[in-house]
Amino acid sequence: MSEILSVRHLSVTYTDSTPTIPAVNNVSLSIHDREIVGIAGESGCGKSTLINAILQLLPDSIVDMEGDVLLNGQNLRTLDRESMRRLRWMKISLVPQSAMNALNPIMTIEEQMRRIMEAHWEAARPGEIVARIDETLEMVNIQRQYKKLYPFELSGGMRQRVAIALALALRPDVVVMDEPTTGLDVIVQRGILMEIKRLQKQLGFAVCLVSHDMSLLIELAQTVYVMYAGRIIESGPSRDIYRQGRHPYTRGLIACFPPLQGSQRTVEGIPGSPPDLGQLPPGCAFHPRCPQAIPRCTDQSPSLVNVRPQHAVACHLHTPDIPSDLVEASHDRA
Ligand SMILES: Nc1ncnc2c1ncn2[C@@H]1O[C@H](COP(=O)(O)OP(=O)(O)OP(=O)(O)O)[C@@H](O)[C@H]1O
Ligand SMILES: [Mg+2]
Repeated sequence: MSEILSVRHLSVTYTDSTPTIPAVNNVSLSIHDREIVGIAGESGCGKSTLINAILQLLPDSIVDMEGDVLLNGQNLRTLDRESMRRLRWMKISLVPQSAMNALNPIMTIEEQMRRIMEAHWEAARPGEIVARIDETLEMVNIQRQYKKLYPFELSGGMRQRVAIALALALRPDVVVMDEPTTGLDVIVQRGILMEIKRLQKQLGFAVCLVSHDMSLLIELAQTVYVMYAGRIIESGPSRDIYRQGRHPYTRGLIACFPPLQGSQRTVEGIPGSPPDLGQLPPGCAFHPRCPQAIPRCTDQSPSLVNVRPQHAVACHLHTPDIPSDLVEASHDRA
């Protein structure tokens, strides 16, 4: 599979607040053709900042950015606004967080879809846009007569489907979805996610799916990246992350979300909450919450190292030079 999106050493600092907020710290990730990649992490870990930075949606007036974002080999960071505008929706699109509440309240569904398509699909022939609106709405299970309605006339689930239809309308190569089902009823969530998976197979786009819900990501994505305090702390094939996730935070997140299928089990939360990104603790940012912390976690930041060819972890317990008695003692505490 060829790489379609490559994020290399991306860092984003919000400069519009004091202190400045390092919301994304040296993140690298890649998405291959037709792959679903998941980004997991609790609230405030920098997930939305990361994807807004990927889509070049953060103005220079509020952020400092470093690193590269390559889409089909083209560095989006070097494009001017107009060139980036041309790529957005056509090559890479976004279902923003809370998209169902972000639809324009004074435009019908059809008008909103038409507006985006007219602005970006310059080569469309007469009638093609209307046909594409109907076809795309049907793909997300919205009957075509609903296109005459305004957002307030639709349920939350239907509005979310419209937001997904907007992102798919111009058949981009990569669709980025920021918590596309948060706030919806579990059954509706599941229906929408299964549809995304079906559409992804049918249309062949790649997906970058952001969610708090680890079990959902493990079920849908081939590769999962786990973010904590602005960094990737573990990444790998979703099967490996689920069965052999190494980072205590990853294991905690998995324990937080019961599997979508299969037996119910008691849900354990991770005690505490993620740190304020403006005041990160020294060492590993997770150490104040970590049941397995060892002395070096309090003052040395662990690097992301491969534990297997595709599986990387940033945790002192999984660095090769760690004395085994320390690891055993930390396991006894977990
Ligand atoms: N414009 C801004 N200026 C300063 N700080 C910001 C700005 N936008 C977001 N932040 C901060 O950046 C950090 C990361 O926020 P972000 O929205 O990326 O997290 P998230 O992982 O998407 O959280 P959630 O799951 O709640 O959506 C937070 O501490 C947030 O307060
Ligand atoms: Mg977010």
